[in-house]
Amino acid sequence: MKRPELRACLKNIKPYVPGKPVGEVERELGLKDVIKIASNENALGPSPLAVEAMKRNSTEMHTYPDGNCFYLKQALAADLQIKTDKVILGNGSDELLMFITMAYINPGDEAIMVSPSFSEYDFSMYLMGGTPKHVPLAGDDFQYDVNAIREAITAKTKIIYICSPNNPTGTIVHKKDLDQLVKNLPDGVLLVMDQAYHEYVEEPDHPCGIDYVKEGYPVIALRTFSKIYGLAGLRIGYGVAASGIIEDLNRVREPFNVNAMAQAAALAALEDKEHLVRSCELVNEGRKQITTGLAELGLKPIRDHANFFFVDIKVDSKQAFQALLKKGVIVRTGDIFGYPTYIRVTYGTREQNERFLKALKEVLSELS
Ligand SMILES: Cc1ncc(COP(=O)(O)O)c(C=O)c1O
Repeated sequence: MKRPELRACLKNIKPYVPGKPVGEVERELGLKDVIKIASNENALGPSPLAVEAMKRNSTEMHTYPDGNCFYLKQALAADLQIKTDKVILGNGSDELLMFITMAYINPGDEAIMVSPSFSEYDFSMYLMGGTPKHVPLAGDDFQYDVNAIREAITAKTKIIYICSPNNPTGTIVHKKDLDQLVKNLPDGVLLVMDQAYHEYVEEPDHPCGIDYVKEGYPVIALRTFSKIYGLAGLRIGYGVAASGIIEDLNRVREPFNVNAMAQAAALAALEDKEHLVRSCELVNEGRKQITTGLAELGLKPIRDHANFFFVDIKVDSKQAFQALLKKGVIVRTGDIFGYPTYIRVTYGTREQNERFLKALKEVLSELS
């Protein structure tokens, strides 16, 4: 059998290797109570209002979803004080990242992004034959160097990705720096402001992509219901941009890209402001607990502004991953981001954080 020739640009992409479900890890290792603190989910779970809405809507699942997400768009537009024609919903913000390259990237076009950062930018660029250009984050504390980003712009640049807080470092770009970039973007360049963790940020000098959109700059702000809203399993995120950009993205959107259960849950979750406050509190408490616990092990995480932290554990993170797994703790290794002695870990509940710290202490003494 000779299969068709793979598109040349796909040779840069390795198939995604999914982690095992928690239940499978428990069965294989004969463990109970395995904790997964590897995907930056909300340890509090979804809002009870979202759970209720899903139950209420469950009997309607024989009908197609509203392809225009009418009610959700209205609610978002009211919340964000923008018009509905500036909003697009996606099957996760991942899908919106794909829409952006599908709409704008021709083979050979370039996009600038920092490194290390979220892998979907590379992936969606490669898929369309585009070329990602990586600008390293600066220093041991992984700060944005906006001047270096500006210097990387060429005549081929179509997109600049700003991930703030950045995955995996949790670091943010500062408004006064980003303002300079946004206000001086060359014609035909779109700035994608990925704000998957925006709701966790307390730093006053953090820029808001939606404000740039309101001010008329060529920016698309991406947000998600997967993180603070605790709805990662439903796959729903949204983008905010000028109506012309939204129109371009709608050309590549499937008619029913956002499922009905996700729309119902997201609409209810938007109402539950108290759940957002409690989610932030949990992360702030977790950060104190983890920072203190890691200091006792002689480790210092990068100062983060999200619901996860990135820390150099000074041993091979793949070995540490396996050893932590045997103790029922699943984290993300840093090697996939080019940092083989780092791990990325989501803040969990008090008990989960305690289990992680205890397991890490044991693992580090086993490995060193
Ligand atoms: C920075 C960043 N952007 C986007 C996403 C994708 O989120 P979604 O679940 O909405 O596709 C993630 C998920 O981990 C992320 O870390």
